[in-house]
Amino acid sequence: MNPILSSKLPQAGTSIFTHMSALAQTHNALNLAQGFPGFEPSTEIWQGLQEACKKGLYQYAPMPGYLPLRESIAQHVFQRFGFNADPQTDITITAGGTQALYTAFTALIETGDRVAYFEPAYDSYHPAILLNGGIPVPLALEGSQFEIPWEALDRELKKGLKAIVINSPHNPTASLLSAQDLSKLGRLIENHPTFIISDEVYEHIVFDGQSHAGVLQDPLLKNRSIVVSSFGKTYHVTGFKLGYAIAASPIMKEFRKIHQFQVFAVHSASQHLFYLMMQNPKHYEELGSFYAELRDAFRLRLKDSAFSLLPCKGTYFQLLKMPDSLAKMSDLKAAEWLCREKGLALIPLSPFYSDGRNTGYLRACFAKPTEQLKAATEILNALA
Ligand SMILES: Cc1ncc(COP(=O)(O)O)c(C=O)c1O
Repeated sequence: MNPILSSKLPQAGTSIFTHMSALAQTHNALNLAQGFPGFEPSTEIWQGLQEACKKGLYQYAPMPGYLPLRESIAQHVFQRFGFNADPQTDITITAGGTQALYTAFTALIETGDRVAYFEPAYDSYHPAILLNGGIPVPLALEGSQFEIPWEALDRELKKGLKAIVINSPHNPTASLLSAQDLSKLGRLIENHPTFIISDEVYEHIVFDGQSHAGVLQDPLLKNRSIVVSSFGKTYHVTGFKLGYAIAASPIMKEFRKIHQFQVFAVHSASQHLFYLMMQNPKHYEELGSFYAELRDAFRLRLKDSAFSLLPCKGTYFQLLKMPDSLAKMSDLKAAEWLCREKGLALIPLSPFYSDGRNTGYLRACFAKPTEQLKAATEILNALA
């Protein structure tokens, strides 16, 4: 008898990022599709790794993570948010933001629990909720500024939500949640048994004098949240896949029960490396102005183009509203056409919605060398 293989994710195919990157390779196109920095990280990265190896950090790290790194994170969140995280009990080092999110879902969701998140959304939330037996409740962000649909959220809360996923700075819309948004959320859920999973992996990429509003600063949210962050975004090394989760100790206790059987511990030398990097605040304090310069130059070069540019308040993504000439096609078809015929790969917004709706928007990643950004804008400017 043959074994029967039934898919746990029958709808999941190749991600749009893999699809567009493969198409970019086939057509030798410029790739502003996938969201990773296209430049070298600081030399302190390899120096730090060398130091970690010289220290002999080749074997398993402690299950929750290298203590000096957890202590540095605790100090960091105290300075930023006034949140007292105990490094012994409230912080766990993970294999990137992705694992932290997955472990958070596994820790919180029981079969049949409804979990809300806002669309357009980062692509791991929906499958992670499903795989953990939850029921995804996608809610579309509203208006041209992609704001939280408060009334719809309130209705869903009244039907029962185990958790709400928020993401600020937001991929793919580059919008931010303000401290007022977080207070409003806190008041809305105060009388509901609902957790927050707060994806803050772009926390240091915020522009125009704004500061990142994190749930750990909000009195009503901080004790019912799991906060996720990632060193990959902050130090230009997404391939190192190291991040962390923070939560009040009763929640973190459950998180760690899962983490220890998923990965037990994560890459030890990189944990020492990021401990060293965190001792120099300049790396993250200057990240916003570094990306703001790239953003401003990219937007300026496109100011007379046929595309409308949405506000970009954080992250390294820019949403472009397609001109009517392109919008005759679906956003997916337009992105494929642009890649095949014009040599530029961008990401259509439709795959960020669970119903795959056509949106008329394309996402560009501007974390790329200036020459590439210039070439990309020339292609976009030539379109009527
Ligand atoms: C919104 C968001 N959350 C989480 C992640 C995952 O972070 P990591 O690469 O550290 O797993 C990403 C990566 O692109 C992201 O954009």
